[in-house]
Amino acid sequence: MLQLDNISVNYGGFRALDNVSIHAKEGELVVLLGANGAGKSSIFLTISGLNKASTGSIRFGGKELVGMKPSSIVHDGVVHCPEGRKLFPGMSVLKNLLLGAYVHRADKAGVNRTLEEVFSLFPILHEKREVNAGSLSGGQQQMVAIGRALMGRPKALLLDEPSLGLAPLVVKQVFEVIQKINQAGTTVLLAEQNAYAALKIASRAYVIESGRIVMEGDRDELLNNEQVRKAYIGA
Ligand SMILES: Nc1ncnc2c1ncn2[C@@H]1O[C@H](COP(=O)(O)OP(=O)(O)OP(=O)(O)O)[C@@H](O)[C@H]1O
Ligand SMILES: [Mg+2]
Repeated sequence: MLQLDNISVNYGGFRALDNVSIHAKEGELVVLLGANGAGKSSIFLTISGLNKASTGSIRFGGKELVGMKPSSIVHDGVVHCPEGRKLFPGMSVLKNLLLGAYVHRADKAGVNRTLEEVFSLFPILHEKREVNAGSLSGGQQQMVAIGRALMGRPKALLLDEPSLGLAPLVVKQVFEVIQKINQAGTTVLLAEQNAYAALKIASRAYVIESGRIVMEGDRDELLNNEQVRKAYIGA
């Protein structure tokens, strides 16, 4: 269980998150909907220890994450796949993937096992393992980014806009992979502008506006909500 209680984050004098309380139960796929600048990435950066919360607590598996080092948070099983993929374009696919296993580097056999799992989920990455990540298509680069996060052995995976900028057919593949990862038991927190596709595979969702949670509900509640349909689905 991942639980944020009253998390606030300021960037200088600007309050980007205002008393955000959200949770994901073990095995859930929870979607965060929100327009540009609403605060989705700020939530993820705060969970993963890259942003400092000015108030509130973040608990995972009984432990307080606020104040922990980002590497320790990964080690405990909360792994962030950042917006914009953030690959090392001049490094091979394999090296990019291995970077995700940095906190597990002492466990070579374990790292190799996880790598095999990632390759079986993304056969194309095995094929392209010696190719520079920067020369792959956008969809393949997103697979590297997700694969790298999986190398951290997430119990909870934070996916920040994984479908951004991808062609519709590729978006579909990305959502299928996310669903597969979730069905294999990983808790997923997913920020998406592609609201319909995200809600389709979600257990529950939150809507965030200007740093505040303004709505929450299960998948069907939000899919059928008039405001949500107007603002985020366009139907
Ligand atoms: N490092 C920063 N310094 C100052 N302001 C920031 C910083 N990062 C984000 N912001 C501001 O905080 C607010 C929330 O940003 P955030 O990136 O969390 O939104 P988002 O929901 O992820 O948006 P997007 O859909 O564009 O990714 C925005 O107004 C943004 O301009
Ligand atoms: Mg963002």
